[in-house]
Formats: sequence, C-alpha cells, structure tokens
Amino acid sequence: MKKLLIGTGLILLLIVSGCSNSIGPINPSPNNEDRPNEQMKPSSNKKDNQMGMMGHGHDLPLASSAGKNELNIPPILKSDSETQSDVHYTIDAQIGQTEIFDGIQTKTLGYNSSFLGPVVKLKKGQTAHLTLKNSLDEETTFHWHGLIIDGEADGGPHTVIEPGEEKEITFDVKQDQATLWFHPHPEGKTAKQVFDGLAGLLYIEDELEDTYEYGKNDIPLIIQDRTFDDDKQLNYEAVKDPDGTMGETLLINGTVDPRLTVNKEKVRLRLLNGSNMRNYKIKLSNGEQFEQIDSDGGLLNEAVELTELQLTPSERAEIVIDFSQFETGEEIKLMMDDETVLLPFKIEEEKPTGKNTIEPVKNEVEITDEEKNMPVTKEINLSGMGHHVAINDKQYDKDRIDLTQKQGETEIWEIYNEPDMMGGMIHPFHIHDTQFKVISINGEKPPKNLQGYKDTISLDPDDRAKIAVKFEEKGIYMYHCHILEHEDNGMMGQIEVE
Ligand code: C2O
Ligand code: CU
Ligand code: CU
Repeated sequence: MKKLLIGTGLILLLIVSGCSNSIGPINPSPNNEDRPNEQMKPSSNKKDNQMGMMGHGHDLPLASSAGKNELNIPPILKSDSETQSDVHYTIDAQIGQTEIFDGIQTKTLGYNSSFLGPVVKLKKGQTAHLTLKNSLDEETTFHWHGLIIDGEADGGPHTVIEPGEEKEITFDVKQDQATLWFHPHPEGKTAKQVFDGLAGLLYIEDELEDTYEYGKNDIPLIIQDRTFDDDKQLNYEAVKDPDGTMGETLLINGTVDPRLTVNKEKVRLRLLNGSNMRNYKIKLSNGEQFEQIDSDGGLLNEAVELTELQLTPSERAEIVIDFSQFETGEEIKLMMDDETVLLPFKIEEEKPTGKNTIEPVKNEVEITDEEKNMPVTKEINLSGMGHHVAINDKQYDKDRIDLTQKQGETEIWEIYNEPDMMGGMIHPFHIHDTQFKVISINGEKPPKNLQGYKDTISLDPDDRAKIAVKFEEKGIYMYHCHILEHEDNGMMGQIEVE
C-alpha cells in the first residue's frame, strides 16, 4: 500500500513536470553545449531507470547467476577461403536443440550451431563474400548491426531470404576495429527470432595489433534474459510483452548461471546487450573502477574510468578489468546496480596468461566546430507504448520512405523521447549503416564514454539528443527503437540514402 502511494505521488510529479516542460523552452540553449561534463549521464529522479518504467509493468526481476557453469566462449567462424584481399564465409540460420540446462534439450535457433552463433571476423580493407543460408522453416534476414554496408546487403526487412533459400552478399570492409553483431530483422518477427537464439558477434579488425587474446583475456559477453516454461522450453508467444519482453533467467553467451575463470591480469570484456528489452546498469561487486575502452563503433579517444555503466538493448561496450589488483580466491562479481549478480569471477594464478596487455592505440573521434554549429535538419520524435509506439507519429510502412539524405553528407538529427501519461520509458534509438557522433544530450556535452562512435543512443523519457549522422553507403536503411517488440510494433522508419 505504501509503495502504491509513493508510486502515485511520483506519477503526479511526473505529470506535473511533464506539463511544465511543455510550456518551457523546447530547445535547450545552444551555448550550454561546451560545458564539460565528466559525469555519467546527468540524472535526476525523474530520469531514473526504474522510474521511467513506472506504470509499464516492467519490473520482472532477474535471478542472480549462481556461478555453476564456466562461461561458454563462442567459436570463431572458419572461413571457406581467405586471401589478403578476400574472405568467404557461409552463415546458416538453423533450427536445433541445445542443452542449456543439465540433461534437458531446449528447442533453439542458431547460426551454424543450435544456439546463438560463432564470431565472424572481418578485416578492414578486405572484400567479404558471405553466403547466407536460411535453414529455418520461416523467412528471415541477416542484418549486420553497426556495419557500414550498402542497403541491399544490410539485411533489413525488405531483403528476406525464404526458407531453404540462400543468397550471397559481397561488400568491402571499411571500418576500424569494432565489436558489432548480427541478428535477424524480418518484419514483425525480429523479437521472436532473436529470443529463440539468433544472434552472433561480428568483429572488425584493423592494422592495429591485437593486444589481447581471444578466449583467454579477451572475452565476449552476450548478455540476455529469457523466461523458460516448465519444460525448460522457450515459448515466446506465452511470455511476450508488447512493451518489450523481459526474462527472469540470465544467459551470457547462452550459459545459465555463468562464471568466468580469469588470471591475475587485465581482462578485456566485450559486452553486448543482446536482450529484447532489459537495460543493465553494470558495476563490480566491490565498487572498484574499471575502464571502458570502446563503445558501439570502436575505440574511444581514451580509456574512461567508470564505476557504473548502462547498457541498453543492442549497445556494446568494451571494458578492461585489472584482476592483478585482486587476491587469488577473492570474490569479485560483475553485477547490476540492484545487486543482481551477472557474472562471478574465479581468480586463478595458474590459468595460462593471454598475450601482453598493452592498451590498444586510441581512436580520434572529434566533433568539429562545424558539426557543433550545424542546424538540426532531421527531427525524430519517439512516442507511445505497447502497440501504439511511433516515430514522428507514424508506424513502419515498408512502402513509405520517411527520410532521405545524401551519401557522404553529415546532417544533425535531433532525437526526442516524448514522455507519456505514465512517465514514459527508455528507448534505445538505432540507425543502420552509420556510426554517428553524439553532439549533445539535453544541451550538454555527452559523458566521455558516449564521445566515441555510436549506432544506438539510449534516451530516458524527455531526453533530447543531437547526433551528427553520415552515411557512407547508399540504399534504404531502417532507424528504429531497439526494444525488439517496439521495432516489431512499428517503431521504425526508413531513410533512403542517395
Ligand atoms: Cu540491431 Cu535494425 O538492428
Ligand atoms: Cu542495425
Ligand atoms: Cu521503444
């Protein structure tokens, strides 16, 4: 009862603050934009994560990892053939069964395997030839999230591969090193196919030396939450939520109750939030600092020291934890801000050490004065909930092009998350075929870990961000909310780049 009263009070507060916003200045004053802001995203109570969910029924708790199983490390996909200049891969979307729980087979989907997928490695400067096979019993697409790629190969909802069919795509790899990922994108069916297991990692490598070693001290963490039924099966229709499906069971790289054995050395963790809708605020159990070195599209200008990091669906962050500062046998865990354990670490002296741990050379992502002063030429308004989500008051229509932009030209997009009667919720806004730069959030310079390349920007209710967007390739591309049920419900638009 007490909770309810507090809740009602907060909702009233939200409505009041919502109203005062609507009569206040709509645009943040531009001369704020250079104010240095070393903090994480400025947050008032109103913008608190949990608060933003109020009234949307989104508080399904996630069970802590008991650390019973050593983390599965996805294999690296073997090429069909590779030369300096060209690489060929085959990627096959399949139906399978996976022993997620001891002695029980769960029906799942996967790429080249029964669940999730291998890491696909591409090198900058190479031409990639991918044979894409659909061995499912329904249509699918192969989308390369974060990759700069022409519209025909991007794998949006208009490039369906029918069951039993295959298709080859060819493209040049032009990006610097980055941790990207791939997943299906068929119209209205993305959430279910990802839920059932279709998701894999895509690593771009460049001329910079790889200073960590995959699987030893360079570890991917695909973080997902799922609800299993009484028979330990994935039954999407039974648990789906039009505002984003949450699960009570944590999976990292498909492992339940994961733990990771590490050495007393620096370990690079490549985090991907591969969940349909859950946001994770991540910290270490002892409150120690860690470094973030990479955001969605590549290395940051410098390592950023953090004690907490928020990851919304589809976002990536690479963090480095220095385990040499901890004692062997000390209990360190990766956890959420509400103390849910994501990944307990087992610190060992004996595990063979990976290569050295010289920090990779940093990027130089710079926001030019020109970009800072350019007028906003695209406005994106995110609104609604459940089946009524919309972008600029419209829902996705495959026959409608919503925006156009010229190849190679930068434009400033302003994204606004319009609160609703319940206060609203976080929407992670994603654009295909680009790595954009965040110019400002609510008129202020973004925190340091958002000052690198991004393909998804998470907005709290009433947040307004300016981003500098450039497309290097041509074609028709999606932009959408990456809560997968919002995307499926039409919170998506199309831009044609000419
Ligand atoms: Cu992760 Cu439209 O994409
Ligand atoms: Cu994408
Ligand atoms: Cu959304």
